[in-house]
Amino acid sequence: MTNPLFSTNRVKLGVMAFNCSGGSTVTTVPEAWPMTWADNVALAQMADRAGFEALLPVGRWKGYGGDSNFNNRTFETLTWAAGLGAVTENIALLSTVHVPLMHPVAVAKQAATIDHITNGRFVLNIVCGWFKNEFEMFGAEWRDHDRRYDYAAEWLALARKLWTEEAEFDWDGEFFQGKGLWSQPKPIQSGGPAIMNAGSSPVGQRFSAENCDMNFVMLRQKDEASDVAQINGLKAMAIENGRSSQCWIHVYVVCRETEAEALAALNRYVVEYGDDVAVNNMLSIFGMESETLEPAVMEAFKFHFKAGHGGYPLVGTPEQIVEQIERLSAMGVDGLLLSWVDYLGECQEWIDRVLPLMEAAGQRAPRE
Ligand SMILES: Cc1cc2nc3c(=O)[nH]c(=O)nc-3n(C[C@H](O)[C@H](O)[C@H](O)COP(=O)(O)O)c2cc1C
Repeated sequence: MTNPLFSTNRVKLGVMAFNCSGGSTVTTVPEAWPMTWADNVALAQMADRAGFEALLPVGRWKGYGGDSNFNNRTFETLTWAAGLGAVTENIALLSTVHVPLMHPVAVAKQAATIDHITNGRFVLNIVCGWFKNEFEMFGAEWRDHDRRYDYAAEWLALARKLWTEEAEFDWDGEFFQGKGLWSQPKPIQSGGPAIMNAGSSPVGQRFSAENCDMNFVMLRQKDEASDVAQINGLKAMAIENGRSSQCWIHVYVVCRETEAEALAALNRYVVEYGDDVAVNNMLSIFGMESETLEPAVMEAFKFHFKAGHGGYPLVGTPEQIVEQIERLSAMGVDGLLLSWVDYLGECQEWIDRVLPLMEAAGQRAPRE
């Protein structure tokens, strides 16, 4: 069986960040996502039934303060994927793992277990970390930015060997040493689960191109030409390394019957109820510890962070949104990770109003 992440739909769909309180929106608006297990199950099953390709959790150990204390309540992502894998049928389940905080021998086995629970629908999202406060919780070593990716490369090589090597082996690397390493059962997906990464710095993107099956990119949104160059650069690098060239982005969605209603709803939760303290805390750390955005761009980007964790806006009527998706597809985007303020209500509206238009536009095969 092929992992559903690699479906033939021209525009693949996923839902992102619903394992976290507030989801992707840094706001105190009353309907912000409270995040319960029952709601997680309902949303996962809704997306599964509608034929979406993927469910992506955010790996987060601590909130960002402010009145919303954005993302302070989060479900751990491996146990989350195992639980949702057991109650869904076709959709890919991802887990987001901070490799410096989790040992590869343990995660290799957890990943194999989820791959069995889901019959080959598991994907591992490798993150190297940028939120220093979380590392302090673990007393974990905080390496220089580029060293974190060297560490991740060895971590992944070790995990991959555990997923493929039948005999016991010793490991004597720069970061890991061990004797008689061994892991059974092997994952259902031959060679191990699909691997994703969302590195945005030059080193992060190279890591992704060399080691991963797909990249989740944060478009800098300066202008269309530079976004296209960013996507093409990533894809070219992946192809040079003989790897799949899928490129997904995170989009935040505000879809209403009229454009004016959509803009008013966006303005309400971002400007009227936006949590500036939480977003400033997040961006001061993200700016220093990742190499994604220039300081000058950061200020302008605050709006996108409050609106949807730095994602790309899809705001307007269903028809306008499908037109915007067509543009993104022409730019080389293969998949969209969606988030909303009210995941349950707005995902259902997407299924009822946007999905049929996507199918009519040839972006996705009609559902059976
Ligand atoms: C779609 C997407 C999802 C991400 N998910 C997480 C996450 O769950 N936890 C985390 O610590 N970082 C996450 N990141 C951050 C990236 O892993 C990466 O650290 C960040 O883009 C900065 O790039 P750099 O590490 O190359 O500097 C995500 C980024 C993107 C674009």
